[in-house]
Amino acid sequence: MKVIRIKTKEYKILIGKNALNNLAIEIRKNCPKCNKIAVIIDKKVPRKFLIKIIKILKKYKIFIIPINSSEKIKSIRQTNLLLEKLFNLEFNRSDTIIGIGGGITGDLTGFVASIFKRGINFVNIPTTLLAQVDSCIGGKTGVNTNYGKNLIGSFYHPKVVISDISFLNSLPYREIICGYAEILKHAIIKDKKFFNWLKSNTHKILMKDEHSIMQAIKKSSKIKLYFTEKDFKEKKIRMILNFGHTFAHAIEAKNRYSKKINHGEAVLVGMMIALKISFYKKICTQKTFQDINDIYKRNNLIKDLSNFLTKKETKNSIKFMANDKKNNDERISLILLKKIGKTSEPGKFKFAQTEIKKIIDKLF
Ligand SMILES: NC(=O)c1ccc[n+]([C@@H]2O[C@H](COP(=O)([O-])OP(=O)(O)OC[C@H]3O[C@@H](n4cnc5c(N)ncnc54)[C@H](O)[C@@H]3O)[C@@H](O)[C@H]2O)c1
Repeated sequence: MKVIRIKTKEYKILIGKNALNNLAIEIRKNCPKCNKIAVIIDKKVPRKFLIKIIKILKKYKIFIIPINSSEKIKSIRQTNLLLEKLFNLEFNRSDTIIGIGGGITGDLTGFVASIFKRGINFVNIPTTLLAQVDSCIGGKTGVNTNYGKNLIGSFYHPKVVISDISFLNSLPYREIICGYAEILKHAIIKDKKFFNWLKSNTHKILMKDEHSIMQAIKKSSKIKLYFTEKDFKEKKIRMILNFGHTFAHAIEAKNRYSKKINHGEAVLVGMMIALKISFYKKICTQKTFQDINDIYKRNNLIKDLSNFLTKKETKNSIKFMANDKKNNDERISLILLKKIGKTSEPGKFKFAQTEIKKIIDKLF
């Protein structure tokens, strides 16, 4: 199977089975003065990949730093620990950090790379579907705080992204669903044709059919790039990618980032709430609502908030929305859906917290 290459303005994305084989060549090309490499790897990534990477990078001095992925380690504390390791190992700016893992590993290592001596070479090797279709693209890095998710961070591009679909073989179904949530979001906000393709290919993606997965990663990456290249620092159009996420972040925060609900599941619930509000406010038609609802139903995607939060808890979680960094006043800005492939403009719909509480009362 051929490796798909997408060139962005700043870096290259390689997608495919065994795309990892290109790692040494890419480091040689993109980090020519590199001598030392820190490999920060999620412990759940099967060992055979680490063995392969050590072999591929045998010409470099490599240091393996295993981490246990959880939202708790996306923290300033963990950032400091990693920075100290790099100082002790006497890394300099021409050396390289490779992050191998899901979105948590990518966000954390990307952040460390962006601040270590004001920026060291960073290579992102995403190993979850969510990371391959979403978090590895667009240059957002960051960690969580007690005040909310991803509230400390930077915009920083990797030198190269290698999305090797072989990593997905060991990924649990629940994590595949999480990645699928972002794939579906990309289709809903930007591409009706892709949405229609998903109608008949969702099952294959969820079953890890290689061809369908590759197509979904490629299409999703391009849609994410469409927004992030136009608006890298998220001043306006990039906020459209936030469809469903204001609710998702609130749900995750209310559940204290526990395993009870993970990011992708929260996104599925959040998109359904945004869709319900779009329909309730007559911004989209019943047909649009139905089309999306059908894809959820047919594929048993989570959409029922009550599995995770009671109505009272839901209302309490609304205060976390106001803390979302995309809101710059007291009111909560929501991206709503006009039709499949077209959302409202960022900043067009703003709601007071009391108004959202009322809507939630009516909808659930
Ligand atoms: N930077 C961005 O633009 C952006 C976009 C979307 C999401 N995110 C962030 O991404 C994070 C979620 O990412 P995620 O869902 O990948 O979480 P994650 O990194 O925790 O990975 C999910 C689970 O899969 C395990 N795992 C990773 N690779 C595996 C493999 N190959 N086989 C088996 N298990 C494996 C992990 O240990 C973890 O238990 C959130 O923190 C979210 O905020 C960032």
